[in-house]
Amino acid sequence: MQDYNNFFGEFGGRYVAEVLRQPLDELEAAYLDITKDKSFRKEFEHYLKVYVGRPTPLLFAENLSKTLGGGNLFIKMEGLAHTGAHKINNALGQILLAKRMGKKRIIAETGAGQHGVATAAVCAKFGIPCRVYMGEVDMKRQRPNVFRMETFGAEVVAVKSGSRTLKDAVNEALRDWASSFDETYYLLGSALGPSPYPDMVRFFQSIIGREVKSQAREQKVRIDKMVACVGGGSNAIGFFSPFLEKKKPHLIGVEAGGRGKLLGEHAARMNNLGRDSVVQGYRSLFLLDDDGQVATTHSISAGLDYPGIGPQLAFCGETGRIEFVTASDVQALEAIKIFARNEGVFMALESAHAAAYALKILPTMKKGENLVVNMSGSGDKDIFITAKELDREKWIEFLKKEAADE
Ligand SMILES: Cc1ncc(COP(=O)(O)O)c(C=O)c1O
Repeated sequence: MQDYNNFFGEFGGRYVAEVLRQPLDELEAAYLDITKDKSFRKEFEHYLKVYVGRPTPLLFAENLSKTLGGGNLFIKMEGLAHTGAHKINNALGQILLAKRMGKKRIIAETGAGQHGVATAAVCAKFGIPCRVYMGEVDMKRQRPNVFRMETFGAEVVAVKSGSRTLKDAVNEALRDWASSFDETYYLLGSALGPSPYPDMVRFFQSIIGREVKSQAREQKVRIDKMVACVGGGSNAIGFFSPFLEKKKPHLIGVEAGGRGKLLGEHAARMNNLGRDSVVQGYRSLFLLDDDGQVATTHSISAGLDYPGIGPQLAFCGETGRIEFVTASDVQALEAIKIFARNEGVFMALESAHAAAYALKILPTMKKGENLVVNMSGSGDKDIFITAKELDREKWIEFLKKEAADE
């Protein structure tokens, strides 16, 4: 679907300052090499198995399927991957590539912190120093992940510009890379940015969809619908990738509906909300204000509040291959409770957006139809947010006691 100029329809491409042309050309050549290299694939698959813990299970959610009626619900359990989310698939692939390119230092950006944690972990494993840029706001709401990155030996740099979230962290990482690319590899964490990143991240994340395909075959399940949350788009494109060429199954991406419909209250870019623009080196759909500046967004989940969407997903949305919908903050919190109580599965806030929409449509499906929802991550990282929302009094009491004991 990607043409030789690295476009998906009109979207994608490489709109960067002259200084970034050389590192991106070099990266593209190295990426194209490894896609044809069997020994790379073998090394990648080896570490996916022994380090990441793949394959992750495709779990039949029997209780919810029974109670809700309608179709059967399955959960792809990416949250069981090492470090707790799908982000490690891409981090692993890219660090193996960085090693082949002879790079001596890794930089990354992170939003929810899961990509930062995954990058810090693989850097420790493969012995390469690591710096992670993270918005100050995200550092506060994802404090446990900051601790995890630092425990893996990474330097976490607080980004204090703009809205102090993911897009500002990407800007800072690009700035660093422009002056250090001889020795530095920029390990980008979602299916966005200038080419070749969107396609390369899809390539490494497509392991999710390939496993779903073979696990469904083994379990004799025909998949009718697939649902994934969409931040920048890496878990969704990886999950959907092996299914894109055909008309079925019905693919659904769930964006952050946040707390309202006004600009600034959500992070939903599809369905005519985002505007065609070039931001951070690629063309896609972005939330912009009246002056054409990148707008402030909101989501309860730090991983879904990026103002743009990966170019391949934007293209698949425009062509109708993927349907885009939203789930609100409140619906996501409710879905966390429902999946925890009924299936013993603790979803990340991001994944809970997909889970909320799955709960909504499951009862409308026919008996015998099957829906797979991608649990992109585990909810452990979010307890400072979810506990406050779901059990406020007990949690505040606990925090006060902890502080008093210090
Ligand atoms: C658990 C989890 N799911 C989803 C996302 C959203 O990212 P993407 O759209 O690239 O999958 C994040 C981002 O940090 C995440 O941590």
